[in-house]
Amino acid sequence: MLEDRFGRTFPYLRLSVTDACNFRCTYCLPDGYRKTQEESFLSLDEIRRLAAGFASLGTRKIRLTGGEPATRRDLPEIAASIAALPGVQTLALTTNGYNLKQNARRYFEAGINALNVSVDSLDPVTFHAVTGHDKLSLVLEGIDAARAAGFRNIKINSVLLKDVTDRTLPDFLEWMRAEALSVRFIELMQTGSNREFFAKHFISAEVLKAQLLERGFAPAPRAPDAGPAQEFHHPDYPGKIGMIAPYSKDFCKTCNRLRVTARGRLMLCLFGAGGYELRPFLQSDDQRDELRQAIAEALHFKHETHYLHQGVTGSTPHLASLGG
Ligand code: 5AD
Ligand code: SF4
Repeated sequence: MLEDRFGRTFPYLRLSVTDACNFRCTYCLPDGYRKTQEESFLSLDEIRRLAAGFASLGTRKIRLTGGEPATRRDLPEIAASIAALPGVQTLALTTNGYNLKQNARRYFEAGINALNVSVDSLDPVTFHAVTGHDKLSLVLEGIDAARAAGFRNIKINSVLLKDVTDRTLPDFLEWMRAEALSVRFIELMQTGSNREFFAKHFISAEVLKAQLLERGFAPAPRAPDAGPAQEFHHPDYPGKIGMIAPYSKDFCKTCNRLRVTARGRLMLCLFGAGGYELRPFLQSDDQRDELRQAIAEALHFKHETHYLHQGVTGSTPHLASLGG
């Protein structure tokens, strides 16, 4: 199993399969996705080799991210090739949900067994304002389709935005009472390109935590292999509420994940610099040992924590370029 200098192990890989996205979320790609370089995203074969290398080093969970991963037409083939690898128990997808209604069944049949859908607001007007698309009902229908296709414990991601989405807890609670869903509220993260937006809209997850405790939610016991989300439960709700608060103390202590960009760069931290090119080691099946060695060596350079509090956001312009 991969281990760093601080005793953290890494059973979880977040793998971006594209930078492209069709939404224009205000905190991420307010002007929409623009091609910046040749679109040479990792091919199906490169992705298979990469995932096989990680799986052989103890990776048990792989999440497909983007950009919007569902904009890749070969997403079902990518999923099937990863699902077939020995050792990979969880194959997850994070999507904005725009094509779940048509494709949920194909994704499920390809072997994706965990699903996160981004829904920043349950109010159609706010949803439109945040994402640039009037597609709340389409996304909600997509979530129903995913459930009908067989997905269980679907997780909803919602970014906390001051004066925008921070008053919608009651809407989410009403939805959660009716359906077995878990919702994770994510603190807005500062990236290279959203400085002003961040200054205006950041709100600490502590505010939400106070509201949850007031309503009778209690912190759920932490699973030993759980990542940095803090979870809360309530007897009246089948699902859990999670909070992802990267600005909270000790967030990085439970880091269990590595990231690879859509062009094959290993990123040790969402807010780190540089990265390590893995693509040269993905060109043939017999490079497996070189790949494994490159990953293990890079891990030696993983820092103990991010430097967000000092305003150091690393080299990430927005999360679409790094998979969130
Ligand atoms: N801060 C917090 N969350 C973000 N996401 C994208 N950019 C940011 C940011 N700057 C979230 C999306 C989606 C997930 C992939 O990452 O809303 O839920
Ligand atoms: Fe697209 Fe996700 Fe960024 Fe929104 S947050 S613009 S859905 S990549």
